[in-house]
Amino acid sequence: MTADFLIIGCGIAGLSLAIRAAKHGKVVCLTKGTMLESNTAWAQGGIAAVLPESLRDPGDTCELHIADTLDAGAGLCVESVVRTIIEEGANTIDDLVHYGVDFDAADGHYSLGKEGGHSKRRILHARDTTGREIAEALVATARKTPNLTLLEHHFAIDLITTGKLGMVTDDRVLGAYVLNRDTGEVEIFRSDRVILATGGCGKVYLYTTNPDSATGDGVAMAWRAGATIANMEFIQFHPTCFYNPAASGAEARSFLVSEALRGEGAVLINQKGEDFTLKHDARGSLAPRDIVARAIDHEIKRTGAPCVYLDVRHKPPGFMKERFPFIYETLLRFGLDCEKEPIPVVPAAHYQCGGVVTDINGKTTLRGLYAVGEVACTGLHGANRLASNSLLEGNVTARRALEEMLAHLHPQRESELFDIPVWEHGDTAAPDELVVIYHNWDEIRRLMWDYVSIVRTDNRLRRAATRLRNLKKEVREFYWGHRVNADILELRNLVSVASMIVDCAVKRKESRGLHYTSDHPNAKPSLAQDTRIRKF
Ligand code: FAD
Ligand code: SIN
Repeated sequence: MTADFLIIGCGIAGLSLAIRAAKHGKVVCLTKGTMLESNTAWAQGGIAAVLPESLRDPGDTCELHIADTLDAGAGLCVESVVRTIIEEGANTIDDLVHYGVDFDAADGHYSLGKEGGHSKRRILHARDTTGREIAEALVATARKTPNLTLLEHHFAIDLITTGKLGMVTDDRVLGAYVLNRDTGEVEIFRSDRVILATGGCGKVYLYTTNPDSATGDGVAMAWRAGATIANMEFIQFHPTCFYNPAASGAEARSFLVSEALRGEGAVLINQKGEDFTLKHDARGSLAPRDIVARAIDHEIKRTGAPCVYLDVRHKPPGFMKERFPFIYETLLRFGLDCEKEPIPVVPAAHYQCGGVVTDINGKTTLRGLYAVGEVACTGLHGANRLASNSLLEGNVTARRALEEMLAHLHPQRESELFDIPVWEHGDTAAPDELVVIYHNWDEIRRLMWDYVSIVRTDNRLRRAATRLRNLKKEVREFYWGHRVNADILELRNLVSVASMIVDCAVKRKESRGLHYTSDHPNAKPSLAQDTRIRKF
């Protein structure tokens, strides 16, 4: 298959780009799962934007949103990128409304929420299922867009580049090998413009808010193709996942309880009912996420309790059901009435602040390859993302990437001129060998949780690096010896991404933003730069 634009990923970044690009050429947009399996569809709190003056929180300005973003980012944001993205907030909301997104509003005004690190109310939302509202609107629009082919169950394995074909000059991308999960065949998709919109890598950790699809495939593919990656040490842990000891394994702590609750007055307390967060930051429960997650980690370790609590009992009866119906009902299903009992919560891996290095227009270091959304490292988030800035970034960079590609659109499809070898299958793995995949998958996620989590040390990072080296070898042998399937592909990507997180963390000999190590507890001004890594 040949396309003018090959987009890998169907979240906000991929779909919003696909819909726009289809006016300019043939677009293929694919996902390894179904259309609504994405981080986008799971977003709860909302999307941050400073609206036109008559609609915004009194006193709010783009300058304040920029200042809050820079403050959260702990010295690593690229200010020009922050400014550009935030100044496009109001247009982004118009775009999404145009696609059919129905944000909550009353009396002709959008209802604006608040989350950690925001000095004003500026989060537009659709109750507590904003992501689902956005994803459904985009999928519906995409399905009726001419010139746009949407493919489910198509797993991008690797990028095809001139370098991989053995050419030594002018390395550029020519397309991707894609596993059709329905047929088991690997197909060649050719395109001069390949856009990674594959989201993040939460599944690298045992406990995560992310859906199963978040295995860091885009970062791993870009790495193997030789693109530059940065800041993978900055994994954001969301402070408040429901802690449910009645459930087993990862299920026990993966349901997100939105930060927007704290924006509406919910308070974090310990078993004694004390608001312990105030000892860590004057903003208390509404401090930026790195601070709150560390405060919880500290409190859990200090008290030996398995969790802390989010308290909304002081809100008027019916408030939760009205404003946060999804969370309220889900907790009820788990047997907890949050109007009567505080919600037990723990942190879990949530967001990848680093990723494939791009400029503000999604351009990577490899010709023809673009990255948009969570997979990309644009400079917006620096060392810690401000809440609800990622849906905004996904839409803005997708629009800008298209403009950039159109400015350099070449009438001839160069990727059609190359002789691309067909995929050579290995043998199908015997069922009893599959245990290797599940064991390694579990081991990676567990070791990342134990050794490379909210608080790190040099020693634990060294152990993680050693173990990952061995796991990488095992996974590589398995990958090359067997016929590919989604499990082995995800495992291969997970082990690469875990190694990148550890490599970046080892390089950063200071504590900054989301990277905290007790061996180097302070930020060092001389180290206020990105951690860049590249395969070759
Ligand atoms: P995604 O939406 O994750 O989409 C990635 C797509 O790529 C999926 O379709 C996936 O199947 C596909 N894909 C991945 N690998 C491959 C492959 N190898 N081949 C083919 N397809 C592939 N952010 C906010 O701004 N506000 C919020 O309120 C908010 N709440 C959140 C709540 C939760 C529970 C979570 C998990 C995240 C939340 N975030 C929020 C973060 C935000 O949702 C994500 O950062 C954002 O949606 C990422 O969008 P994306 O388009 O980059 O990727
Ligand atoms: C949340 O609703 O707490 C998640 C918001 C985000 O990750 O931006």
